[in-house]
Amino acid sequence: MHAPISLSLIIFMTTLLSPSLSERCNPNDKKALLNIKKALNNPYILSSWNPDYDCCGWYCVDCDSTTNRINSLTIFAGDLPGQIPAAVGDLPYLETLMFHKLTNLTGPIQPSIANLKHLKSLDISWTNISGSVPDFISQLSNLTFLDLSFNSLSGSIPSSLSKLQNLDALHLDRNKLTGPIPDSFGKFKGQVPDLYLSHNQLSGKIPDSLGNMDFNAIDLSRNKLEGDASFLFGSNKTTFKVDLSRNMLEFNLSKVVFPKSLSSLDLNHNKLFGSIPEKMTSLSLQLFNVSYNRLCGKIPVGGSLQSFDYSTYFHNRCLCGAPLESCK
Ligand SMILES: *[C@@H]1O[C@H](CO)[C@@H](O)[C@H](O)[C@H]1NC(C)=O
Ligand SMILES: *[C@@H]1O[C@H](CO)[C@@H](O)[C@H](O)[C@H]1NC(C)=O
Ligand SMILES: *[C@@H]1O[C@H](CO)[C@@H](O)[C@H](O)[C@H]1NC(C)=O
Ligand SMILES: *[C@@H]1O[C@H](CO)[C@@H](O)[C@H](O)[C@H]1NC(C)=O
Ligand SMILES: *[C@@H]1O[C@H](CO)[C@@H](O)[C@H](O)[C@H]1NC(C)=O
Ligand SMILES: *[C@@H]1O[C@H](CO)[C@@H](O)[C@H](O)[C@H]1NC(C)=O
Repeated sequence: MHAPISLSLIIFMTTLLSPSLSERCNPNDKKALLNIKKALNNPYILSSWNPDYDCCGWYCVDCDSTTNRINSLTIFAGDLPGQIPAAVGDLPYLETLMFHKLTNLTGPIQPSIANLKHLKSLDISWTNISGSVPDFISQLSNLTFLDLSFNSLSGSIPSSLSKLQNLDALHLDRNKLTGPIPDSFGKFKGQVPDLYLSHNQLSGKIPDSLGNMDFNAIDLSRNKLEGDASFLFGSNKTTFKVDLSRNMLEFNLSKVVFPKSLSSLDLNHNKLFGSIPEKMTSLSLQLFNVSYNRLCGKIPVGGSLQSFDYSTYFHNRCLCGAPLESCK
């Protein structure tokens, strides 16, 4: 009499408790994730990755709401010793991959990442990965965000990165990159990314081609760049941030026409000559620094130019006028 009730109750309970009947997780994705966990020696931050539970509920991952495929793997601020596991390449529907603030993550940028054709955001930053910036990244054509900053990457910047037509931002800053800025970085088609290349050992001249680009933000500071950079500016552009500080750039500042949009301009520690153009008084600058150059003449009066203290202007050949001493 009671048997059917008990039986349906048992079936009901089984459905609730057994992952195999209610699980969203794709078995291939689960297998890949468990391989990643194993390759990383079962780190504490991945302790929720229990094969008895639906992987769509695990920490550090997300599943697509319709396909149930893993589309995001983001691991940050934990103790992850070792290298990026090859198994990350077995999550073919990943759109977001992040390894951030993992001091003990070493080795190269995992080659199997080349398989991740759907990637939109690749962020491997503040780790100890080394080796070169791989050429294959240029084939991840849907990338909108690429951040490889604060690592120990070396070698030169692959010119192929300019093939990425949807890139909003490119961060290669704070590495050990050498060689020139690729000429191709003046030939981004489609989206022109914000360009962050600071704190490397990039050398040579900034390619003239970069003058063709209207960057929103460009930071080339703390490298070994030389020669002209005046072509990065122009009345036509909508650039708001330019940081070229601590290089060996040498050009006549008097001749530069700055875009109206410019609000942050750092040129300190270069070899700029000439004087500060009168037209700079029409800019609304929030940050401005031309210290440690070879500038001369009177600081134009007006706009935001007197809102900065002497340290914006000090250590030049013969700049004068407020906020420095008055001209003789
Ligand atoms: C990296 O590994 C060392 C040695 O095992 C450990 O002491 C340290 O806490 C780890 N770093 C992080 C950020 O977990
Ligand atoms: C790389 O590792 C060293 C110690 O091995 C550590 O001092 C440094 O902070 C690490 N770098 C990053 C970006 O975590
Ligand atoms: C790239 O993005 C477009 C637009 O979002 C999409 O239609 C296309 O399928 C994506 N390609 C890949 C390989 O994910
Ligand atoms: C403004 O931009 C157009 C198109 O990019 C260019 O042909 C023209 O020479 C520019 N004008 C100035 C004053 O830079
Ligand atoms: C810088 O350019 C200005 C304006 O064209 C010119 O008058 C000046 O002589 C130049 N300065 C130097 C040091 O070449
Ligand atoms: C300008 O840069 C110099 C050199 O780095 C620095 O000492 C000074 O504090 C800076 N001033 C401002 C206002 O940013």
